[in-house]
Amino acid sequence: MNEFGMKIKQIRIKNGLTQKEFANSLGYKSKSTINKIEQGINDISYDKLMDLLNKYNEDLDYLFGCDSKLNVSPKSNDSRLFISFSAKSDGNSFQIIKHYMTEKDDYILFKDINFHACCKCNYECMKNNCKYRFDDVYKLYDLLNKYKKIYLIIPMYGGNPSSLYFIFNERSQDYFMHNDNYEDIISKMFFIGIYGSKEEHPYFLKHFEDLYHCKECDKHILGIERHKYNLKLDDSIMSIEEIKKALNKFID
Ligand SMILES: Cc1cc2nc3c(=O)[nH]c(=O)nc-3n(C[C@H](O)[C@H](O)[C@H](O)COP(=O)(O)O)c2cc1C
Repeated sequence: MNEFGMKIKQIRIKNGLTQKEFANSLGYKSKSTINKIEQGINDISYDKLMDLLNKYNEDLDYLFGCDSKLNVSPKSNDSRLFISFSAKSDGNSFQIIKHYMTEKDDYILFKDINFHACCKCNYECMKNNCKYRFDDVYKLYDLLNKYKKIYLIIPMYGGNPSSLYFIFNERSQDYFMHNDNYEDIISKMFFIGIYGSKEEHPYFLKHFEDLYHCKECDKHILGIERHKYNLKLDDSIMSIEEIKKALNKFID
């Protein structure tokens, strides 16, 4: 199955259709035509392709893989990758990135890449391939391996890690089912959680601590408690010397 065929299949599954139903909706007489397109044996005609895009509200860029927003690649063996899981482009998460990034490093604002949450699916990843296999999240997991260290900066939203982090995390189910580099990637990850306070939210950092089974948690996880310094929503955490010191020690 080629990438194009796989995407056609994803569109069919996403719409809850059998090959026969999908074929009929596009005016094909037999389901075997769709089967051959999905398998990459046959091409689809221009007219049918336009019909499919209109009927199923799909995007030509997505179908032909032109919609990736992930354009980083490590410049050297010791390049580090910073990932912000904030919805804000220039908030505290980005301030940390700006302060610590060097020329050889890269950063990603997760909100700006092409991602899909594990929803509107039928657990396809458990049976075959995740139907969102060609968005940027899978590519991002592949990229992680190439960096020396990965810093994930995760703000608290509504008492929990932001939903962008959950999207990233849940897609690991599909990635690690097909790749056996879980331990390698986990060992390169370093979590910076920006939250209210440990007292109010004792479980916030637990989300990340569980990945390390309580081993080396201090090495891999840093919690920045805003309430400890009376910091309001728009206050800068980088203005606090004690926080900067903790970050200096954590990020190397
Ligand atoms: C939707 C939303 C929910 C939030 N919920 C909380 C919260 O429950 N507790 C908290 O201390 N801060 C909360 N915050 C504040 C963020 O954690 C804070 O702004 C932090 O600095 C986020 O990093 P950023 O500046 O990179 O976005 C929330 C912010 C947003 C946008």
